[in-house]
Amino acid sequence: MASASVDIYRRLLRYSRPYAGRIAFSILASLVVAGTDVSYAGLVQPLVDKIIAGGQHDLVILVPVFVIGLALLKGIGRYLQEYYIKTAGQLVIQDLRNDLQGHSLSLSMAYYGRNSTGKIMSRILNDVGMMQRSAADVLVDGVRESFTLIRLVGLVFYRDWQLAIVAFLVLPVAVLPATIIGRKIKINTRKGQSSLGNLTGHLQETFSGIKVIKAFGTEAGERHRFRTENLRFYRFLRKVLKYDSASSPIIEILASFGIATVLWYGINRVLAGAMTQGELFSFATAMFMMYTPVKRLTKVGNTIQKSLGAAERVFEVFDEAPDIADAPDAAPLAPVRGQVTFDAVGFAYRDEPVLHEFSLEARPGEIVALVGPSGAGKSTVVGLIARFYDPQKGCVRIDGQDIRQVTLDSLRENIALVDQETFLFNATIARNIRYGRPDASDEQVRAAARQAYADGFIQELPEGYETVTGDRGHSLSGGQRQRLCIARALLRDAPILILDEATSALDTESEAEVQKALANLMKNRTTFVIAHRLSTIMHADKIVVMENGRILQIGSHTDLIAQEGLYRKLYDLQFKS
Ligand SMILES: Nc1ncnc2c1ncn2[C@@H]1O[C@H](COP(=O)(O)OP(=O)(O)OP(=O)(O)O)[C@@H](O)[C@H]1O
Ligand SMILES: [Mg+2]
Repeated sequence: MASASVDIYRRLLRYSRPYAGRIAFSILASLVVAGTDVSYAGLVQPLVDKIIAGGQHDLVILVPVFVIGLALLKGIGRYLQEYYIKTAGQLVIQDLRNDLQGHSLSLSMAYYGRNSTGKIMSRILNDVGMMQRSAADVLVDGVRESFTLIRLVGLVFYRDWQLAIVAFLVLPVAVLPATIIGRKIKINTRKGQSSLGNLTGHLQETFSGIKVIKAFGTEAGERHRFRTENLRFYRFLRKVLKYDSASSPIIEILASFGIATVLWYGINRVLAGAMTQGELFSFATAMFMMYTPVKRLTKVGNTIQKSLGAAERVFEVFDEAPDIADAPDAAPLAPVRGQVTFDAVGFAYRDEPVLHEFSLEARPGEIVALVGPSGAGKSTVVGLIARFYDPQKGCVRIDGQDIRQVTLDSLRENIALVDQETFLFNATIARNIRYGRPDASDEQVRAAARQAYADGFIQELPEGYETVTGDRGHSLSGGQRQRLCIARALLRDAPILILDEATSALDTESEAEVQKALANLMKNRTTFVIAHRLSTIMHADKIVVMENGRILQIGSHTDLIAQEGLYRKLYDLQFKS
């Protein structure tokens, strides 16, 4: 536990290093602030003595100069201290959040399969947010109060070091409850943040699934689910608040032992003549004055524990290694001719094998169709080409190169994918189409849209290509969304094209049109087409019939139709009626 905390401190420290200048400057400014306090007493008093007692009346003018000058100095010092330390904290947190988002993006699809979107978002927003709120408190109060405390402790020891030792004997006793409270705060903050993650996840889910919720009339159930989780969140928070509120009173009670000892022992020393009354009085005053910084510092300690609870969750994400990453000796994929080979590939998402001894060869420029029942593994096959996952057995090669040996960037540059699930960004139609090639000209965007048979409906939209599609393209029809996704893939202009149920939402007529356009485009690229509608894939060079992760038949439409088998069965089902 302790070493884990140390590790987190070390990592946070690494993040603050770039801002060491700001932090040092801020500490310098707080020294100025502390210095001005002392100067008031140190400078104004002799000045007054000289003027009144010494009769140097011409020095009168210096009094307001000193008072105002010191106030100015202190004010500026305070401003610089707060401004620089707070911006430093903010910058550290900003870097952390940027890195966290970047790292999350580099994690594999397997990670996204294990964690819900909401929970991943929560770490980047809520957990980093918790650290952010703490950072400012810790830095401002921590620095300021530590200085005050050090000065007071120094003063007490300077006055009477023996009495000071007696007074601080109580200190070890105070450490134990502070540690226990700190640990409880950290644990419950962690649990609370996890519950907050569930809340975020729930919100994200309800808003994305709002149509299902409304259609099934399950608003009440969703409200209940949210309230239950919210209550759970409150319960953890309540524990944090309980420990947080208890810490100051406990410190005060323990401190009273120190004060009581000092008074008892001190008065005895005064009575014995070892100390003057004045000395004891000044000593006790300094002790009382320590209250405030000690209390504030325990609060700071608790805040640190809270942010550690959140930081643990943040660094957990950083510790998640991206399992699909460039091999150390990865080379960029040379310009691709488009030969794709599956060599005895065995693959499982978890334990259940999805592909068995899967071998397939697509020659450059060939159109390979994958057909078969739902769950046969068709999407899995094309996902392996894009290296969303790595196979456990065998390998996938492009132009003879194992794709695990090439850089991911270069691999994906060579692939254009239209996924089974259409996804559009909440941006203009033009930006959505341009997504894979941001430098494409308006004319190129248009051309891609025309080829995807989308230009027509886009022109009819109120703002044409500048129409914003809404989250995930909710303001468009299913077929319109698919056509935009096809346009996006076409503009990408990659040598390997993957169409996973890309035209399933189109009516037969527009599908035929899109097919015609696609036929031209497929000419110089290797294309993988997945479709349930056999009319879509009849003209493919090679049709691969799959079931349960195995290849049952391979051949052209005419070959397969001539054979007894799954393909003919599917064909009969679709065309007999
Ligand atoms: N992310 C995943 N995690 C775990 N199992 C998965 C995942 N994706 C798919 N599967 C499983 O792998 C098997 C093959 O899925 P796949 O998506 O490749 O089928 P498919 O042939 O594309 O089906 P469909 O025609 O319905 O799209 C299925 O049994 C499915 O449950
Ligand atoms: Mg699929």
